[in-house]
Amino acid sequence: MTLIEDIIVRKILDSRGNQTVEIDVYTLNGFGRAAAPAGKSTGKHEVKAYPRGGIDEGIKYFKERLDHFIGMDATQQEDVDAILHEIDKTPDFSMLGGNIAVTFSLAVAKAAASSLALPLYQYLGGIYAKEIPKPVGNVLGGGKHAINGTTIQEMLSASLGDSTKDNVFANAEVHRVLGDKLKKRFPDLSIGLGDEKAWVAPLRDEEAIALVVDSIEEVKSKYGFEIMPALDFAASSFYENGKYVYHDKELSTEEQIEFVEELVKEYGIYIVEDPLDEEDFDGFAELTKRIGDSVYIVGDDIFVTNKKRLEIGIEKGAANTILIKPNQIGTLTDMHETIRLAKDNGYACMISHRSGETCDTSIAHLGVAFGCEFIKTGTIGGERLAKLNELIRIEEEIKGE
Ligand code: PGA
Ligand code: ZN
Repeated sequence: MTLIEDIIVRKILDSRGNQTVEIDVYTLNGFGRAAAPAGKSTGKHEVKAYPRGGIDEGIKYFKERLDHFIGMDATQQEDVDAILHEIDKTPDFSMLGGNIAVTFSLAVAKAAASSLALPLYQYLGGIYAKEIPKPVGNVLGGGKHAINGTTIQEMLSASLGDSTKDNVFANAEVHRVLGDKLKKRFPDLSIGLGDEKAWVAPLRDEEAIALVVDSIEEVKSKYGFEIMPALDFAASSFYENGKYVYHDKELSTEEQIEFVEELVKEYGIYIVEDPLDEEDFDGFAELTKRIGDSVYIVGDDIFVTNKKRLEIGIEKGAANTILIKPNQIGTLTDMHETIRLAKDNGYACMISHRSGETCDTSIAHLGVAFGCEFIKTGTIGGERLAKLNELIRIEEEIKGE
């Protein structure tokens, strides 16, 4: 019943209009479909999304090796993922492409779940997988995701109420209230949206954070639960020749650490992602020592969902939270091992979308299955809402409402 009978590979478009891969997996009575997202501010140590010749070369390479998988049991996820590594033969999926590997890996899990008539989160997480990650959504930003935005890539709203539905609605409302404020502030400008549908406005970083915090306060008074501001610096994207280069200043590493500390204190920032360059484990450790007791310090580009990179972080005390992006590492099994290692060492986990997305809903299920504390997947826009709306459905199922 769970044997893989057919595999179909196609190209579709992502939210930036770029080509990406979608894979269908059929068993006798089950079906799984997954699609790959695409990063723009990617970490240097991520697996390669596609081989050097691009998506077509990766698809050709995979299609020539489909016989490895036909007839395999879709419930044997670890074996399937091991063969993905075997057929690729490189440490970073540079022959097959990590995006093709991860898409197939997820499609197999979905086909197995479907064959067993289980939702993906329950198939992977078991009957006790009932905690839904708190949604953290980008509302204002810049960096590599927009032209003329802030230097800090993402300013986000983290809604921490008990109801997922209310949390999702509250984050979207922060986005709307902020939009109104921006239109008032810049009556003669048309304010745009970045890749993740966060607002983009010609503001200095501190001014922008202040506006986000004001918007959060306004929405919080209506909802009556905690809503907190968060930042993703994506600092590697503006680290040049040993300096953090903002629109209005250049900071040394020590100054950057102090700046982050000041922002956290002044604006009550709850989550800080990639505040330092992706190679700076010591800087991360220093910041964690200073403010890690009260703030989630998240490693994205520094860890790239990679167990070995996380091991270095654990040893050095760098960060206390890891961002989990399945396509940074290439298979479900690798991703799961990284999450286990994080949890065993007291790190929190935030599962995440990429800036280029499809309507695939896998990360909503993975976040619940593996007990991630947070999910970062925007606040509005079809490809972001696909995941957020799926979380609302999962909550309904879990709570039996
Ligand atoms: P991405 O970045 O553009 O690589 O998806 C998102 C992030 O830095 O979290
Ligand atoms: Zn990031």
